[in-house]
Amino acid sequence: MKLSLTTPFVFLAAMSLTTPALAQIADFLVPANGDTLKAGSVITVEIEAPLFSAPVREVGLVIGFTVCNRLPLGCTSSPEELMETVLYNGTFNPQRDPLQPTKQAHQNFTVTLPDGQGAAQMGLVHFALGEGEEHPRPICLYLYPTSSIYTMKFTAPLVFLAAMATSVFAQNAEFGVPANGANLAAGSSITVEVDVPTPPTPFQDIAIAIGVTMCEQFTCTSPEEFMQFLLYNGTFNPQRDPQERTKPAHQNFTLTLPNQKGPAQLGLVHFGLGFEAVGFTSVFRSDSVDVTLT
Ligand SMILES: *[C@@H]1O[C@H](CO)[C@@H](O)[C@H](O)[C@H]1NC(C)=O
Ligand SMILES: *[C@@H]1O[C@H](CO)[C@@H](O)[C@H](O)[C@H]1NC(C)=O
Ligand SMILES: *[C@@H]1O[C@H](CO)[C@@H](O)[C@H](O)[C@H]1NC(C)=O
Ligand SMILES: *[C@@H]1O[C@H](CO)[C@@H](O)[C@H](O)[C@H]1NC(C)=O
Repeated sequence: MKLSLTTPFVFLAAMSLTTPALAQIADFLVPANGDTLKAGSVITVEIEAPLFSAPVREVGLVIGFTVCNRLPLGCTSSPEELMETVLYNGTFNPQRDPLQPTKQAHQNFTVTLPDGQGAAQMGLVHFALGEGEEHPRPICLYLYPTSSIYTMKFTAPLVFLAAMATSVFAQNAEFGVPANGANLAAGSSITVEVDVPTPPTPFQDIAIAIGVTMCEQFTCTSPEEFMQFLLYNGTFNPQRDPQERTKPAHQNFTLTLPNQKGPAQLGLVHFGLGFEAVGFTSVFRSDSVDVTLT
């Protein structure tokens, strides 16, 4: 059994819960649960970062919207499992407002609501690295159509059922360079190529985290569970190279290796959205290669 001596980065997702140190749930400040919103309108959504006592890096965020009467099972899934419409996908970089010192770090998003009518759910799923636990977060809303005024508030309780088995064949992002078994100079700057073979179903890449773990100090298991050094966290936008038609869509990252020697694991965790027949589902995947830092 190896001991953790430094603060590691732990992947946070509802599917990979170990013993949580603290609960970290990004939350909606605006709109509020039970609000009535006008279909097709442009609104500001204000999302508050979770309060935490350990270092956490927010990486990516999806804000989704589901008009409940358009889904066979209504709003019974968590937003992680199913979101009918995606209002926002991208980075999440909450900040404190110096003019409102008592207010927690937050970020405002301007989004356009879909058309429709009736009970609706706005949900968020975020991808963060740190110590703790992560949950997707839904709120209930009522969507009134643009042509009429609706005054009653919708306050039905939420029921979560893991009813919708996901059938997404999301292709995993994987290391193209360096290769498994590579020797790399400790402390050097290297190019890491992350490949995404063309998936059989449409897929939206959002964010990626790339890290290194020294295997003599820590047990090298899945990068979803643990990464000792974080080399990159941020957007992921793999592209095909028209000059190299046989090469899969990829993105190159120039990263600086830690100045340590020995067997190591280079790992990535990838956050994206798979397209279902009725909406979108969140997908978290990982890949790793074994290397030696010399
Ligand atoms: C995700 O965001 C990108 C960039 O803003 C946008 O082009 C894309 O359509 C969005 N994807 C979905 C599924 O909404
Ligand atoms: C976000 O919007 C709220 C009102 O909903 C406002 O009080 C706050 O100052 C805004 N924050 C920023 C950073 O613009
Ligand atoms: C992680 O993301 C944050 C926010 O974008 C950025 O400030 C930080 O430098 C990133 N860290 C790495 C190692 O990429
Ligand atoms: C990424 O790097 C690889 C070599 O590691 C190179 O073959 C490829 O052309 C690069 N792609 C881009 C878009 O620069």
